[in-house]
Amino acid sequence: MTHSASLADGIVWIGVNDRETDLFEALWPLPGGISYNAALVVGEQVALIDAVRAPFLPELLAAIRRVLPGDRGPDYLVVNHLEPDHAGALGTLLGIFPGMRVVGNAKTLDLLTVYHGITTGTVALADGEVLDLGGRRLRALHAPMVHWPETMLTFEETSRVLFTGDLFGSYGAVAAGPFAGDVGTALEAEARRYYANVLGTYSSMVRKALARVDAADPALVVPAHGPAWRDGARPVRAWYDRWSRYEAEPGAVVAFASMYRNTARMAESVAAGLAEAGIDRIAVHDLARSHASFVLADLWRYGALALGGPTYNTGPFPAVASLVRLLRTKRLANRALGIFGSYGWSGGGMEELRQLGAAPGWRLVPPEVEVRGAPREETLAECRRLGHELARAMQAAPGPATAAP
Ligand code: FEO
Repeated sequence: MTHSASLADGIVWIGVNDRETDLFEALWPLPGGISYNAALVVGEQVALIDAVRAPFLPELLAAIRRVLPGDRGPDYLVVNHLEPDHAGALGTLLGIFPGMRVVGNAKTLDLLTVYHGITTGTVALADGEVLDLGGRRLRALHAPMVHWPETMLTFEETSRVLFTGDLFGSYGAVAAGPFAGDVGTALEAEARRYYANVLGTYSSMVRKALARVDAADPALVVPAHGPAWRDGARPVRAWYDRWSRYEAEPGAVVAFASMYRNTARMAESVAAGLAEAGIDRIAVHDLARSHASFVLADLWRYGALALGGPTYNTGPFPAVASLVRLLRTKRLANRALGIFGSYGWSGGGMEELRQLGAAPGWRLVPPEVEVRGAPREETLAECRRLGHELARAMQAAPGPATAAP
């Protein structure tokens, strides 16, 4: 399904909903789908802002035909981001509209060569440079690493509409048109999960991009995924400010794996200890069953992680090792970490967890609790104490990082 909707005079949203892809980037679950947003900016010349994943080209094409008369095609395709969720259809689209010129920046054109073999008919805009459509002016605001090196924002100056690519994006198909309706917790949760999964690694670059958004002072913000935002996008702007500073809400994540319920019982005791210490928002994830996408989203929200698992083949349990690896690459900071685990005849499952605690941005909170065999009452009491200490560590936290935009 494609629908089109007016964003401003002469600017039409022609996004496409994808309710079929199970895993975004072959990684992240999409229970509510996702939208690939595109728009037509119609001046004397016409620019298409972003495209869609290749399988959705027919729907994008139908929307273009609906907006533009006859066989008229866009004169330009402005590529804010060349990742194939937005630009996968680019090659075929150029075959249909051979006169259309691809607009980006020098890094876009480099990626255009390696992804599409296109080296001619392109326009590279310097940072701040304007593409004048006649009655519409598109200013390129480079925003590298939000989320690839070539990413940029495009600001239509006459209507003050800012197209932001992945910045301010959210999972979830756009059900009833392109605009954010009631800004409920469900939308915030899916925007946070998108941020933690896709953009979190690049939080310092996000902060630079936020400063560019503020300077532009847009009336309307249109990300490449999820709803568009009126009134300067105040809610999502505030969320991004918090998430990119690693600001934490009071609350904790208990993430564990367990083969025979020994580590699971320890996890329950850590959670009980957190609750005894007054933490009333505790997200417990069995890593054999909770997808890391949702664990990351909760970790981007709360200030502490209790992480545990059994030793497996003299190392960490695979699901635990996988989460540790993801956390290292996501560069989450300002978080307290407590660790626990169990083993039968050979330890070795805790070392990578300890190393996470020594990584920048993490504070390893004692006691470390590890048991051989099944936990007895004294071990479970020590797990509850770990919960108490994690709660205390959050209360004493130095506050979020304040990376300057
Ligand atoms: Fe929506 Fe980084 O692609």
